[in-house]
Amino acid sequence: MIRRAVYPGSFDPVTYGHIDIMTRAAQAVDELIVGVLENRAKIALFSVEERVKMIEIAMKDLPNVRVESFHGLSVDFAKEQGAGFIVRGLRAITDFDYELQMAQTNRIMAPGVDTIFLTTNLEYAYLSSTTVKEVASYGGDITKFVPEYVAKAVIEKTKKK
Ligand code: PNS
Repeated sequence: MIRRAVYPGSFDPVTYGHIDIMTRAAQAVDELIVGVLENRAKIALFSVEERVKMIEIAMKDLPNVRVESFHGLSVDFAKEQGAGFIVRGLRAITDFDYELQMAQTNRIMAPGVDTIFLTTNLEYAYLSSTTVKEVASYGGDITKFVPEYVAKAVIEKTKKK
């Protein structure tokens, strides 16, 4: 049986923390599908296509990882993809409440889809897309948080805003 998992998120933009989770999740399953949420209610810095592209570049050497956009519920995306698992990263205790609530709700909606948590590498435990955007908006160096090409894209977008 093929072990297939989805890793849903906003990834606006993808950070080294996400890349670490994707890389480790890809080692644990046969196929990983990264799902980029197209959330019309939330204003994102990058379009969903741009976010997909940036993750594809980061994952180019991992043949069992695919990147797709989705809208709606993560469990529906998992079912559409034929995935039995949703992967989420846990950075700190502050993530736990929200993640547990989501995992429990998702399991009630789709008992066949289980959530797997990977603890974020300590090196990235402080990191979020929001702080990356904030640092960039003040002209700070973000190259320790995101790959070079992502940093360039964030700086470009931030200038345009
Ligand atoms: O990267 P994020 O913003 O922490 O990811 C959150 C995400 C996309 C996983 C979550 O908001 C989500 O699953 N949204 C889709 C709607 C949904 O399924 N909600 C969960 C029901 S409790």
